[in-house]
Amino acid sequence: MMVGSTPDPRIDELVARLTLAQKVRLLTGADFWSLHAEPAVGLSTVVVSDGPSGVRGAVWDERDPSLNLPSATALAATWDPEIAYRYGVAAAHEAHRKGVGVVLGPTINLHRSPLGGRHFEAYSEDPLLTAEIAEAFIRGLQDHGVAACPKHYVANDFETDRFTASVEVSEQALHELYLVPFERAVVDAGAWSVMSAYNAVGGTTMSEHPLLTEPLKGTWGFDGVVISDWTAVRSLASAAAGQDVVMPGPDGPWGDALVAAVEGGRIPVEVVDDKVHRILLLAARLGALVGFDPAVPPVSSGDAATVGTDPADTALAREVETRAIVLVRNDGVLPLGTPTSPTPATIAVLGQSALRPRTQGGGSATVVPVSTVSPLDGLRAAFPDATLSYATGAVVHDGVLPFALGDVRDPETGAPGVRTRFLAADGGVVLDEVRHATELMWLGNAPVAHTFVVVTDYTATASGPIELGWAVIGSTTLEVDGAVVLESDLLVAPEDIGAALMAPPSTTVRVDVEAGRTYRLRWTHPLTGIPSMPDGSDRAEVLGFTAGWRPVVEETDALIAEAVEVARTADVVVVVVGTNEKVESEGFDRTDLRLPGRQDDLVAAVAAVNPRTVVVVNSGSPVVMPWRDDVAALLLTWFGGQEYGHAIADVLTGVAEPGGRLPTTWPKTEADVPILDVTPHDGVVRYDEGIHIGYRAWLRAGTEPAYPFGFGLGYTTWSYDAVRIMDAGVHSGAVAASGSVRVSVDVTNTGERRGRQVVQVYLSRASLTVDRPLRWLAGSAVVTAGAGETRTAEVLVRARAFQHWDAQTHAWSAEPGRFTLIVARDATDSALDATVVR
Ligand code: BGC
Repeated sequence: MMVGSTPDPRIDELVARLTLAQKVRLLTGADFWSLHAEPAVGLSTVVVSDGPSGVRGAVWDERDPSLNLPSATALAATWDPEIAYRYGVAAAHEAHRKGVGVVLGPTINLHRSPLGGRHFEAYSEDPLLTAEIAEAFIRGLQDHGVAACPKHYVANDFETDRFTASVEVSEQALHELYLVPFERAVVDAGAWSVMSAYNAVGGTTMSEHPLLTEPLKGTWGFDGVVISDWTAVRSLASAAAGQDVVMPGPDGPWGDALVAAVEGGRIPVEVVDDKVHRILLLAARLGALVGFDPAVPPVSSGDAATVGTDPADTALAREVETRAIVLVRNDGVLPLGTPTSPTPATIAVLGQSALRPRTQGGGSATVVPVSTVSPLDGLRAAFPDATLSYATGAVVHDGVLPFALGDVRDPETGAPGVRTRFLAADGGVVLDEVRHATELMWLGNAPVAHTFVVVTDYTATASGPIELGWAVIGSTTLEVDGAVVLESDLLVAPEDIGAALMAPPSTTVRVDVEAGRTYRLRWTHPLTGIPSMPDGSDRAEVLGFTAGWRPVVEETDALIAEAVEVARTADVVVVVVGTNEKVESEGFDRTDLRLPGRQDDLVAAVAAVNPRTVVVVNSGSPVVMPWRDDVAALLLTWFGGQEYGHAIADVLTGVAEPGGRLPTTWPKTEADVPILDVTPHDGVVRYDEGIHIGYRAWLRAGTEPAYPFGFGLGYTTWSYDAVRIMDAGVHSGAVAASGSVRVSVDVTNTGERRGRQVVQVYLSRASLTVDRPLRWLAGSAVVTAGAGETRTAEVLVRARAFQHWDAQTHAWSAEPGRFTLIVARDATDSALDATVVR
């Protein structure tokens, strides 16, 4: 029998069969990535995994790679629930392939400040756009039998001191902004789990917060499992609250203490029973509970375990990215290969990111891709007859780079890679493996050992000095051919496990090498554990170690000069600039919005010598671009997933239109940004701006951004012809309720190419009694049309768009009267308008 969303008495019977100890055991993870099995009731293990831009699986390991989809800001830039649904389906395929039942995503916190470290991992500054994309992604996953776990509930919109910082936010802003995507994820998409956040709201940490009960489990009717963020649960109080599961396991603060609390009458057994019921319901939905058919019968072949990523999903990664790329400036140079912009015979490709782009941000969202396509690769494939010249120009990277697999060999077998050994105190070998990567991570599966050793035979590809080193917390010794060249302690661990593991400090030493000569490199690292877990524990089973190198860059002027020479005579120049996982990651916020290193100087210098300079920005979130008006074309391309380079080439050649529209405002300067600060003061981050974040704040301040929310050009032009409004009555989505309206907008493609347009509908209303933004997004729709064709975009404006949260009555409220409905190309535009009376 299939499980529905109504309480199932058969599950109650199963709960009743368990002893208190058996029940409580289920409430803490079995290990880092799985929930306990319980044979007594036919419950199998459920594996959970990050994502959400691909599914990593239970190991972070190049031997078990994953589909690397474009990051969240890219997906949101499509403004397209249809493709977000397919993205969820692809993630479900990957989850099945890796035996994963719950994908820990989507991340649906908001872009309150562009400095937010995980900005790249969240969708938008707008709650509605976030909700639309999230709902589609979750449906795509869950329709294919994999649970979503939208996170982090709630107000986890920054990283600094994220375990302890408390957010002060008004009730109105909480409900009109930060809870909106979660409400949609739960009420409309029916998410089977939700992750509670690390931070506190109003002084109460989220794993203990009453918001887990109301509105989540109350008004919204959430019947799934509240999974904690990793190590976020620090108390028994959380067990009495709406928190259901403590992750990771196997140890945690509940266990025996919770059994004692129930036996002592301090926590009612019904509280525990409810949590167990939820876990069993989740398992039933996933097909992990004997006697229950899964919520979705496994149907398509893509749902079955396959050896590698489905080629159709790889193709989707490319399609998503082409639809996500936002063209913000074009003097006519793009697309290449038209009568006015002929196919170039010579192309200068510049920038470290052209060769080593970031296809994803850092932190727990990281997956290990099977392979990635760089812009240089993509351009080579797209322009087989052109002469491509590459120059680095400027360096993005901070820290060390992993070695190229072709340059390192296992000393024992000669196979490409490195030998890694975990050794006991007596030198006995605990684990001995050949790895095909030198950026290594064990999250929960590092063996208990005394010392970690990496050995490899490195063959230099060029003569001269290079920097050899590593990144890890703790002490390490590096030997070259048996002689110690560097010994160092990097003991200053960032105060955050995410940062400590995934963005640890690094060190290097300069070594002279000869091209073609092979050197034996050995790193020896005593294992001390990471003493910065938020729950106070010192976990031995986690280790992040990069054996790395970096080029010696002393003469940054010379690098730029070399690039300028390459650019000077080229028919077209493509400069790829960006950030990387050292800048945009988890566990810390960005400190500024500049492009790292001398990339700004590089673009300015190149644009000065070649008027056909196209700049491609490879970042997950906004950067300031002082040269933006001096270049021929500018593409904002996000962390574009494994097919990144092909997608860039598709757009440059016009095989695909750059279909994206900004999901977040890009500023001219940092000083212009209305809400920047993400640093807690006395442990508190005050969201004093209330409901005015993102474009709402920009409009209120009257400041002109570089590119507004919703903005993006295509390769054609559009006229907005007419708008019609129809009462839609009761819409099927629960959030819409009655009172929604359907807006039909006629648009004509007035250019010469087929194109794609995102029709945006905003509402506006002056009110003396209700604090409202100058306008707010109320709906959107994507249309495609051939040259000269007219299409009608159908936009649903939900009843909720006309409502506001009333902090007096603690409820949604409607203020009768006239609303102005604005049809626009972006948040600052007004193409058509109409009046709606509510
Ligand atoms: C992150 C979560 C992630 C979890 C497991 C936490 O540090 O905040 O987003 O799912 O780790 O990796």
